[in-house]
Amino acid sequence: MIKLNINGQLTTLDVSEDMPLLWALRDVAKLTGSKYGCGKGICGACTVHIDGQAMRSCITPMSYAKDKTITTIEGLSEKGDHPVQQAWQTLNVAQCGYCQTGQIMSASALLANNASPTDDDINNAMAGNICRCGTYPRIRAAIKLAAK
Ligand code: FES
Repeated sequence: MIKLNINGQLTTLDVSEDMPLLWALRDVAKLTGSKYGCGKGICGACTVHIDGQAMRSCITPMSYAKDKTITTIEGLSEKGDHPVQQAWQTLNVAQCGYCQTGQIMSASALLANNASPTDDDINNAMAGNICRCGTYPRIRAAIKLAAK
């Protein structure tokens, strides 16, 4: 049994310590907003916040997530109205959408730590989130809109 806080709820999951957090979130906690892309920490589709930092849940074992505070896209805001989510909707960022929850989690972690990011700050923070549709210009514009 592993205890952790997921989206504000103290939760106990009956999983092994070596299970990746992404598996526990999707298959056990039934929070499927975090996506499986590469499973190797490369694409960023599985990004969640762990104690406020954007991290890859596919390569984070439950032994690390234990007793920590996890935020997934489902818990980022109550009604999908986080400033980053609003900017994403205003600028129609998503194309196929598969990577977008990971993009939003990375972007929201960036803005929580840096309210006025430069282009370089954005590029550095978002470099680990790959979008096969190439929505990068809209992602950058949405981050700047959310930062206003
Ligand atoms: Fe985790 Fe690609 S699925 S980084």
